[in-house]
Amino acid sequence: MVSEHAAQVLVASNRGPVSYSLSEDGSLSSKRGGGGLVSGLSAVDDKLWVCAALGDGDREAVRRGVSEPGVRMLDIDADVHADAYNGIANSVLWFVHHMLYQTPVEPVFDAEFRRRWASYEAYNRAFAEALAGEAGRGAAVLVQDYHLALVPGLLRELRPDLRIGHFSHTPWAPVDYFRLLPDDIGEQLLRGILGADRAAFLTRRWADAFVGCCTEILGGTDRTRIGVHGLGADADFLRRRAHEADVDERLAALREQVGSDGDRRTIVRVDRTELSKNIVRGLHAYRALLDERPEWRERVVHVAFAYPSRQDLAVYREYTAAVQSLADEINAAHGTPGWTPVVLHVKDDFARSLAAYRLADVALVNPIRDGMNLVAKEVPVVSDHGCALVLSREAGAYEELGADAIVVNPYDVTATADALHEALSMESGERAGRTERLAAAATALPPQRWFLDQLEALRG
Ligand code: F6P
Repeated sequence: MVSEHAAQVLVASNRGPVSYSLSEDGSLSSKRGGGGLVSGLSAVDDKLWVCAALGDGDREAVRRGVSEPGVRMLDIDADVHADAYNGIANSVLWFVHHMLYQTPVEPVFDAEFRRRWASYEAYNRAFAEALAGEAGRGAAVLVQDYHLALVPGLLRELRPDLRIGHFSHTPWAPVDYFRLLPDDIGEQLLRGILGADRAAFLTRRWADAFVGCCTEILGGTDRTRIGVHGLGADADFLRRRAHEADVDERLAALREQVGSDGDRRTIVRVDRTELSKNIVRGLHAYRALLDERPEWRERVVHVAFAYPSRQDLAVYREYTAAVQSLADEINAAHGTPGWTPVVLHVKDDFARSLAAYRLADVALVNPIRDGMNLVAKEVPVVSDHGCALVLSREAGAYEELGADAIVVNPYDVTATADALHEALSMESGERAGRTERLAAAATALPPQRWFLDQLEALRG
């Protein structure tokens, strides 16, 4: 029997707020993650976060009954999870929404795809059943992202009393591209999300694309309300964290690597090594800057952090290797005994990222397509001396930051090189004024407000 519990909030996502690793002596250690949802949900008392066990450590934690209060990890069969997460969510849905396919030869929707799709359905069903079992009567359930697009529809069938929201952290594909998907699969995805009372997105552009797909393919959005919530940077947290001792240490080390006693400018980028982030074209643009404008040689360093992501997928491993080899090539072609043109780091280190934000004269954020891109919002907040932002018009953040950024078409390497030159040359007064306005726009909707707005709108 389900008890009345309208104040309860459940969040469902593939990746949870905590992960476990198993050491050789058999002990488990846990690591808490950050991000908008973690900080948003901290504003709520009565809550449960349902997530998937992702690795061996997580699975062992579930088996031993180790958990954190307010978190339930689902030990979904490892092969089913791999097919759903790697095989469908990250190789198909991510590619559709970010328009990453080389369409003359891919995608190929064959029997193997159908087999993986069955796993995606099973994985979504496991979430829907767990949520149906945990939620009190009238509770609010906030389902996250493309991994769990079928959950709202499945959960509505099991528990019509719940308030169900779905939030997309990615772009949404325009209808002509969405139609790459087999027709029945496309319809199933749309109907899955339309099982929610409210479907929300990071920008108006992605919300409109979703409505466009629903209108053209299904004839409308039925009874589902559509919302837009542009997640902002967490200014209080960032400003405090960016001045802790470990960040100061890393800042000193980075200054050392940049060299030349602080006279050199820096172009900073911080990304997951993600196909949509356009790191390779960013490096080509930097090389074009050095080739075409020799006055910048020895006077600028590109500090590029490209952190490991989705390394189970061959195409991500190849991309990571391409980033490394292009950085090496630029250093070999242009480097001098006292100057390393590209300082590339590939090991994830949050404190070092904040140090780079503080150091940045220019931030390069040039994704092919991006749901929001929080780096674009965080750098102006943390930067010590003001920072010019080179920003792709295809990032969700463009809607809020475009007016004070130097905006680029992410495919245009020559225009990006020109934008880097303009950014490096920006007069300090203008740079400071722009940085102040960028920081204000970037922090307009802090994570807790972002989360509570969604909740209020869902209950309203
Ligand atoms: O923003 C989209 C997203 O998939 C998030 O849900 C996720 O936390 C992030 O990208 C990183 O991806 P992954 O969880 O696959 O490492």
